[in-house]
Amino acid sequence: MAYQPLPFRAIAANVLLAVEQGQSLSQCLPSALNQLPPEQRPQLQAICYGTCRWFHRLESELNQRLKKPLRKPDRIIHHLMLVALFQLRYSEQATYAVLNETVEACRALDKPHLTGLVNGVLRAAEREGAPAPKDDSGRFSHPVWMVEKLRHNWPDDWQAILEANNQQAPMTLRVNALRFKRDEYLNLLSEAGIEAHATRFAPSGIQLQRPVPVDRLPWFEDGAVSVQDEAAQLCTTLMDLQPGQRVLDACAAPGGKSCAILEACGELDEVVAIDESAERLPRVQENLDRLDLHATLTQADAADIDSWWDGTPFDRILLDVPCSATGVIRRHPDIKLLRRESDIVPLASIQLGLLEAMWSILKPGGRLVYATCSVFPQENHRIIQRFLKQQNQATLKCIEADWGRDMNTGRQLFPDPDSHDGFFYAVLEKPEP
Ligand SMILES: C[S@@+](CC[C@H](N)C(=O)[O-])C[C@H]1O[C@@H](n2cnc3c(N)ncnc32)[C@H](O)[C@@H]1O
Repeated sequence: MAYQPLPFRAIAANVLLAVEQGQSLSQCLPSALNQLPPEQRPQLQAICYGTCRWFHRLESELNQRLKKPLRKPDRIIHHLMLVALFQLRYSEQATYAVLNETVEACRALDKPHLTGLVNGVLRAAEREGAPAPKDDSGRFSHPVWMVEKLRHNWPDDWQAILEANNQQAPMTLRVNALRFKRDEYLNLLSEAGIEAHATRFAPSGIQLQRPVPVDRLPWFEDGAVSVQDEAAQLCTTLMDLQPGQRVLDACAAPGGKSCAILEACGELDEVVAIDESAERLPRVQENLDRLDLHATLTQADAADIDSWWDGTPFDRILLDVPCSATGVIRRHPDIKLLRRESDIVPLASIQLGLLEAMWSILKPGGRLVYATCSVFPQENHRIIQRFLKQQNQATLKCIEADWGRDMNTGRQLFPDPDSHDGFFYAVLEKPEP
């Protein structure tokens, strides 16, 4: 018998099941996309991202519609119905196509005994419309613990943060300052028919009106620009980079900030880029190659200094630590399913450990910039407080800026629907003896 590829909704259900079991979309989506002809791939991608984005709201509706949860071996059909509900509620797809093809997908997934249930649930959903969410988890489409933690941490801002997390993020570019002035590149974009404007805070940033494939960007392959959020670009404004400095990017992959550092100051002595992930480190080299930049790459646990450090202290250190990534949920909605409340304490301990280790290899008179893409103070403000308690030599440098919120330790940015992601930055200096 000829091989029958799975219908794309069945593939989407499998992707969601994999995410529920702990894989990120960037891990499991590429092989799923390869199962489809190129013209169907954007639709699969949009469905997977959209269903993750609205997962908790859709699940709240589905649970209200099911008399009892499906048996564990039938869990795939739970996800198939979430995919169909996503299409009914958030896409332009014709209702009859969603209903008929979802029933077909149920059959293709080898669950013919559930076609009646799927049909009944989706017909009722179509007839009755979306029910009012029962709680804030359904209302804001986030896990309960995240809603509660944000409400507790940011009593005046939690709702705005949750709502911003559900928006599609803009596409933002960083102009390679070694190649073009921002205005020059804005002109090139305009000539190419791409609407864009300068970012408000990042000096080399350009925000596009609508996302475009990178191959439509003028001179992209030749290293004219990179895709990077505006908040991430702000790191170079804090590093006070000067010719001749030796700079460490301690958690570097995929290399967005290493490249930004090299572009911001063309005459640095050396940039050392470290990452512990053998899988992610090659991405740094790819980015450096495209931009025609050079850095010394090392795969290591940055905190295990004896395993990689040559004994020469650094003038500048960027420490962009692993974190909950709760400031970039709008770009990675699978974080809502992947992250657990119990992840935060171990993450905070890794972050403090990395900060202590990096501090020990900073030159007297040198500067360390601590960064996360988290909106939880436990990974941000409180890490700096804890560090300062034990390191009374460290000087906290006040960040004078018109972005973010002053936390006395650093500046916290929340995701902004019109511009940047959520981020935190703190700047520490080591006094000369
Ligand atoms: C937030 S990402 C860095 C993003 C990067 N700075 C950029 O702008 O493209 C955090 C990185 O830290 C790496 N990492 C985690 N623990 C590490 C450790 N102990 N030493 C070095 N790298 C680590 C992860 O593999 C991940 O690539």
